[in-house]
Amino acid sequence: MKQDLIQKAARDILRSKKTVAFTGAGISVESGIPDFRGAQGLWKKYDPQEYAHIDAFQKDPAKVWLMLKEMFALILSARPNPAHFGLAQLEEMGLLSSVITQNVDGLHQAAGSRNVIEYHGTHWTLSWLKCREKREARSLRLEDLPARCPKCSSFLKPDVVFFGEPIPWRAQTLSFHEAETSQAMLVIGTSAAVYPAAALPMRAKERGAMIIEINKDPIPSIDLLSDYLICGSAGEIIPAIVGEIRKSRGEEPEPATA
Ligand code: OAD
Repeated sequence: MKQDLIQKAARDILRSKKTVAFTGAGISVESGIPDFRGAQGLWKKYDPQEYAHIDAFQKDPAKVWLMLKEMFALILSARPNPAHFGLAQLEEMGLLSSVITQNVDGLHQAAGSRNVIEYHGTHWTLSWLKCREKREARSLRLEDLPARCPKCSSFLKPDVVFFGEPIPWRAQTLSFHEAETSQAMLVIGTSAAVYPAAALPMRAKERGAMIIEINKDPIPSIDLLSDYLICGSAGEIIPAIVGEIRKSRGEEPEPATA
């Protein structure tokens, strides 16, 4: 049954003139970064209103940095998994237009994806809250965080979108354009619980795209939209789809990458 769906997804991607991927935290779980709402999810440990809202950061940055340091350490040491590599291979094969990701870990780019739209920003750069000067995450030592700007004395904040903050306009514009002009959207490892990101599969569907969902668990809100769900881990399913595509093109399977 699952194998049938994997073969169907391969056929649908081959038929589609434009396919985009919309990814969430689930795709990075196999890289050791927990998701938000799963059994081991970050929001089980930290209340997002207290740790992920911009007002909370402005009120008590040192408190929010307790969570951010944990994320920071995980993200800096994480490596892409076969799901990230599989999407990069699809792009390389000319079968994937872009990856729209809600993730801030940079793992799609690390796997080789080139057209990545970071809808919720990135953890790899940080800005001082007042003067907005940027720092590279790699230039910082974990033990020096949280840090204050020597000039404006405000705290450093990762360039991720906190609740209460707007989506960067470029990401917003590009991702809706990609969704609206796609014929197929792979919705991977997201509970689609956070708007406006969650509106992207809806918009794609309204404009006639096929929605192919890949998730460990059925998610009622997406199940209503999706044409079919391939239930299981992204790190297993995406390489299997790529393998089927290669097979149907008479190509050799790609050697394991991760
Ligand atoms: P969630 O934690 O809400 O959802 C992750 C989904 O991935 C769940 O449906 C899991 O079942 C699924 N999953 C877990 N492991 C998987 C695996 N190995 N393979 C496939 N699926 C797997 O994370 P997001 O939907 O990404 O925003 O959360 C959306 C936003 O909520 C985040 O970007 C973040 C958060 O608050 C902000 O902070 C603004």
